[in-house]
Amino acid sequence: MKERTLAIIKPDGVSRNLVGEVIRRIEGEGIRISAAKMIRMDKDQAKGFYQVHEGKPFFESVTDFMSSGPCLVMVLEGDDVIGRYRKLIGATDYKRADEGTIRRDFATDIEKNIVHGSDSVENAKFEIKYFFSELEIF
Ligand code: CMP
Repeated sequence: MKERTLAIIKPDGVSRNLVGEVIRRIEGEGIRISAAKMIRMDKDQAKGFYQVHEGKPFFESVTDFMSSGPCLVMVLEGDDVIGRYRKLIGATDYKRADEGTIRRDFATDIEKNIVHGSDSVENAKFEIKYFFSELEIF
């Protein structure tokens, strides 16, 4: 089924010059990038983005981190792209991520895990709308 998902290359991925490597892996998987831009969230914008995690022990820390520098946000499109992209990035905790996944290869801790991907159709809709208007998605 044709889907869309939101992908983010987080501040650690951008500052470590991993933008090209992540995009190479996405495109190599046959996934199409239908929107992309570099943004820097402020603390409130990061809190809004991660509102489903409000109240969790890592909420303050992850919203500090996500507002600490620029991110590359992208909309990816394709058949079953939510699951396929999540397979490419690996588990949130890089120590439990499969070999050859982006997080296993590059993450340095559970928070600084290089990339984000939507986990459901419903969350993808919210997350895409958070950063992009329909006119920016091709
Ligand atoms: P992400 O997939 O962007 O979703 C929430 C983020 O919070 C997660 O990746 C991590 O960067 C961060 N995080 C930090 N600690 C945890 C944790 N214990 N469980 C889940 N996410 C965490």
